[in-house]
Order: sequence, then C-alpha cells, then structure tokens
Amino acid sequence: MDLADIDLGDPERFVDSVPHEWFAFLRREAPVQWHPDPDGFAEGFWSVTRYDDCVGVNRDYEHFSSYRSTALFHDMDDENLAQQRMMMLNMDPPMHTRYRRLVNKGFTPRMIRDLEAKVVASTDSILDAVCEAGSADFVEQISAELPLQVIADLMGVPQDDRHLVFDWSNKMIGSEDPEYQLGPDAGAQAAMELFAYADELCAKKRLDPHEDLFSVLTQAEIDGDQLTQLELDLFFLLLAVAGNETTRNLISGAMVAFFDNPGQWERLRADRSLLPSAVEEMLRYVSPVMHFRRSATADVVIGDQKVSEGDKVVFWHISANRDETVFADPDTFDIARTPNNHMAFGGGGPHFCLGANLARMEIRVMFDRLLDRVPDIRLDGEVQRLRSNFINGVKHIPVAFSPSAPLGR
Ligand code: HEM
Repeated sequence: MDLADIDLGDPERFVDSVPHEWFAFLRREAPVQWHPDPDGFAEGFWSVTRYDDCVGVNRDYEHFSSYRSTALFHDMDDENLAQQRMMMLNMDPPMHTRYRRLVNKGFTPRMIRDLEAKVVASTDSILDAVCEAGSADFVEQISAELPLQVIADLMGVPQDDRHLVFDWSNKMIGSEDPEYQLGPDAGAQAAMELFAYADELCAKKRLDPHEDLFSVLTQAEIDGDQLTQLELDLFFLLLAVAGNETTRNLISGAMVAFFDNPGQWERLRADRSLLPSAVEEMLRYVSPVMHFRRSATADVVIGDQKVSEGDKVVFWHISANRDETVFADPDTFDIARTPNNHMAFGGGGPHFCLGANLARMEIRVMFDRLLDRVPDIRLDGEVQRLRSNFINGVKHIPVAFSPSAPLGR
C-alpha cells in the first residue's frame, strides 16, 4: 500500500466497506497525515487516526475549535457557517457550556429512564408490523423506525408528524448518496418548514406544558438566561438529525456484524447478561459517526506532527476504535469485550454525545426483543451501504425469519 493511494475524502471509497486497511496503515505509518482536501476550500486536512491522538484532539477544545469552521468535514459559505455556529455541536466553551447547561435540564437520566417503557412498546409494535410476513427490509422497517418514534416522544412531537420532521431534517442535511439527493433549493425550503413547525410546537408547549423535552426547554432558565426561539429551533433540528441516523445505523451495522458472526448471536441469545457489554462492542465495532472535524486555533503538536494555526483537523472515531494498541484483536467482534473504552460517542470532551444513554437503552431494548421474537433472523439478499465518509451507514438489509403472530400489546 502507498500513502498516495489513500483518499479518505472520497465517499465512493466507503460504498463497498469501510477501508479499515487504510486506517490500519495510517495508524502504523502516518498517524497524523496531511491529506488533499476534496472541496478546494482548504488546501488539505490533517487526518488523525490513533486512539490517543483522537481523544487528545477531542478534549483539547482550546487548541481545536468546533466553532471556527464547524465540526463538519465540508467547508461552507458564510451564510451557512453563521447558521451552523448557532448549533451547540459547532460551539466552543464558554458559549457551549451555557447552552449545554440549559439543554441538560431537559435530558436528565430520569427522563431517559421514564422513556424505557415507551421504547419497549415502540419496538414491539415495529416488530408486530413485520413478524407475520417472515421477511423485511431491516433498515426501512425496523432500525429506522425506532429512533424516529423515540425522538418524537422525547421532543413531544405527535407521532403522526414524525415522518414530516424526519423528511425535513434529511433534506436539510443533504447527502452524498444519489438515492437521497435532491434539488438545490430543497434544503432551504425544508429548513423554513421545520423552523415554522418548531415555532408552533414551542408555542403550544408554553401554553400547555407536559413532561417532554420541549416543554422543559421552553421554560428552562439558568441565571435568568433562556434559550431564544431560534436556538430552540436549531436544537430541534440538531436532535432530529443527531438522534436518528446515528442510532439507526448502529442497529443496522450491528445486525450485519451478527450475520457475519453468527456465534456471537447465539452466545447473546443464550446469555442476556452479556447485553450491556454487547451494546458497547456494537458501538465500537460499527462506530456510526466515523469522524468529526476541528480547526487548530494556534500552532500545536499532535503526536510528533506540527500543525499550524487555522489548519483543518479531522479525527476518525472509526479508526481510534480499531487501534490495536488499545483493543486486543480490534477487528474481532467480541460481545464480551472488557475493557471497552471506545470513542463512538466522543472521547470525553465537552461535546460528548448528549444522547449516549438514550441510544444505549434503545439498542439494548431492540436487540433483546429481536433475540426473543425473530431468533432465526438471517440475511436474505444484498446489503446496500451508504455513500458517505461521515456516517457508517447501511441503506437496505433484506432479512428473513420464521413468521410469528403479533403480540398486539
Ligand atoms: C448510536 C447512536 C449515537 C452515536 C454513535 C452518537 C455519536 C455522537 C458523537 C460522536 C458526538 C460528538 C461527540 C464529541 O465530539 O465529543 C455526538 C454529539 C451529540 N449527540 Fe449523539 N450519538 C448517538 C445518538 C444520539 C441520540 C439518540 C441523541 C439525541 C436524542 C444524540 C444527540 C447528540 C447531541 C445533541 C450532540 C451534540 C452535543 C454537544 O455538542 O454538546 N445522539 N453524538
């Protein structure tokens, strides 16, 4: 392999599979590598692939800013940049700290615990809808549905509206996959519709508050400080995006991992006490969010490499989670792996995934119910992957299983 062959900016290279052999090569030969930029905005970017360096960049927000050019790979024009910077994912402390303290109020462990009964009920109704047929598209009918229903419940969006919200967020984020590509104005139009919807929802919650997140957030106050309507709208958008694709692709990717490792499926079926460690291994092995980006705020050193102020720095969770100096046999899917200090939710920096415990619960409930209800689930066609170097995604997984009667609870 030659360094010049490696092109991590090309989403095409992720269609057949994640290029793990590239990441292994980079970790060994060029752990902080200068890489040509596909967009032409920046001359290039630093690609950071070792676990310790990725965690270091993730935690050191003073030297590696999320605000300067956002946490997203692709650079953008000033108008988009200004809007993106109002989302907490793209803020730095202290602005980020203020925002995070406010939204934390609506994201307490108790609220997540209280959602569990609803998550179980949603999972069973999703499986009820497919169990008699004995076959399904696992992604469209199973893994995509659960996070969508859960986010709607969490945010206080009526279930009938959840597909609207999902379609808007998909259109706004756009996609490098031709199956989801739309015209140039679709994003702006969707943003207007989504913001109008969020305005109306917040107005309703102010008049008639319930236990849901947006009822709490419209009232939340710290030292006399409240979220503005625009901040609420943007948080609504961030949740719709951050909570959906990630969890969906984790469940999908983990299902494929079990198809490739049927012994692990049987092991988990026989011993459900392994579920918590299995969930962590699914997160490590799949790493649905493959990278995030930062910008250097000063001349700084990563590993042995000098990085200059203003440089684009991309750190790869997907590579950190296969670092052989941290994880024994990193390419082996081992549901009992301990320790398993993966960085699928981030490396412990200020942006650590706000929904981590919610996602863990959804994944645990979904696999527990799948093991009970469709124990002989098997691959029944071709897995189709997403064309993206950002989300380790799967678009379609045809599956078959023995038909059974719905529970109808
Ligand atoms: C398997 C599922 C998920 C994965 C792999 C995942 C991954 C991540 C990662 C890598 C980050 C950035 C962390 C950092 O830079 O330190 C993040 C941030 C975030 N996630 Fe998740 N996430 C998942 C599910 C969710 C869910 C279910 C929600 C909400 C309901 C959510 C909401 C957020 C938010 C709001 C942020 C931004 C936090 C901040 O900027 O302070 N995520 N997530």
